[in-house]
Amino acid sequence: MHAPLPPAETLRTALAGLLDGLPPRQAAQAVERLIASYRGATPTDAPILRDRADVVAYAAYRMPATFEAVSAALGAFADAVPGWVPGEHVDVGGGTGAATWAVSATWDGVRPVTVLDWAEPALALGREIAAANPALRDTRWQRSRIGAALTIESTDLVTVSYVLNELTAPDCTALVDAAADAAQAVVIIEPGTPDGYARVIEARDRLIGAGFHIAAPCPHSAACPIAPGTDWCHFSARVSRSSLHRQVKGGSLAYEDEKFSYVAATRFRPTPAPSRVVRKPQIRKGQVLLDLCETEPLLRRTTVTKRHGDLYKAARDADWGDAWPP
Ligand SMILES: C[S@@+](CC[C@H](N)C(=O)[O-])C[C@H]1O[C@@H](n2cnc3c(N)ncnc32)[C@H](O)[C@@H]1O
Repeated sequence: MHAPLPPAETLRTALAGLLDGLPPRQAAQAVERLIASYRGATPTDAPILRDRADVVAYAAYRMPATFEAVSAALGAFADAVPGWVPGEHVDVGGGTGAATWAVSATWDGVRPVTVLDWAEPALALGREIAAANPALRDTRWQRSRIGAALTIESTDLVTVSYVLNELTAPDCTALVDAAADAAQAVVIIEPGTPDGYARVIEARDRLIGAGFHIAAPCPHSAACPIAPGTDWCHFSARVSRSSLHRQVKGGSLAYEDEKFSYVAATRFRPTPAPSRVVRKPQIRKGQVLLDLCETEPLLRRTTVTKRHGDLYKAARDADWGDAWPP
């Protein structure tokens, strides 16, 4: 008997299958339409993902990247809550279910999952893709509008991935408050842009106000040390490019890097990293420069040289987003 494939590979195969039989030009056109809608004004009064062509385009083009970003955020979060495993999961604005796949890739086992979204075609395709993942067999795909009336049933983990960006400010607040009321842990992921970071920081402040502790990426639950407008905390996840990506974006690179900002917070006390690498490490001859966010809380550059022995070896392997020391 073969061991089951890891969720990332199963997802890649399931998404590649979506494009089977779809003429490449048609798939590329659907993606271009989708990119144009996202460039237009958001939030919108009605779902952007209106029909199957839209959601196939979203799933094939964006879901591999949102899956990798959420997986990276959950990996850092899981390190800060050793031994904790979510019994139940609610994914709000879950669309085609990228975060449900990322949760199943982070923690083994089958758990009851609820995906909430207002776009029925996204939920339908999410259910179809999830049939390939045995860990998602207990998943409800439920139509729900995020707004003042949103309630989330009590659960262990709420994920909100690439959604705040599509909401009005009052709806963002309503969503973060509903998540804080419902869950033991809340993980929010946004694009790694100055605006995405600003939305994450607002959500972070609200979660702390509601009594939560920050588990990742920050080593502390004090205010973010970045002076507003001077920089933005974000990370990077590597995503394999499909032939569809190459067709839409041109070029022949085998991968691209998805930039994301995130916060993971818990009602219970986590064990956050002592400090975190917040930029791509710079490797020089005989030394590595690490930009760290520490517990003071402050931002500091440290230089690790050959004289540091094992620590130097670790620094050469350290990646943007890693806990430091490892
Ligand atoms: C960019 S997609 C992200 C989907 C998924 N979470 C992911 O990471 O791939 C944003 C999702 O939010 C949903 N959404 C946006 N506004 C919403 C609202 N007011 N109520 C419910 N869902 C909403 C959209 O339908 C879409 O599925």
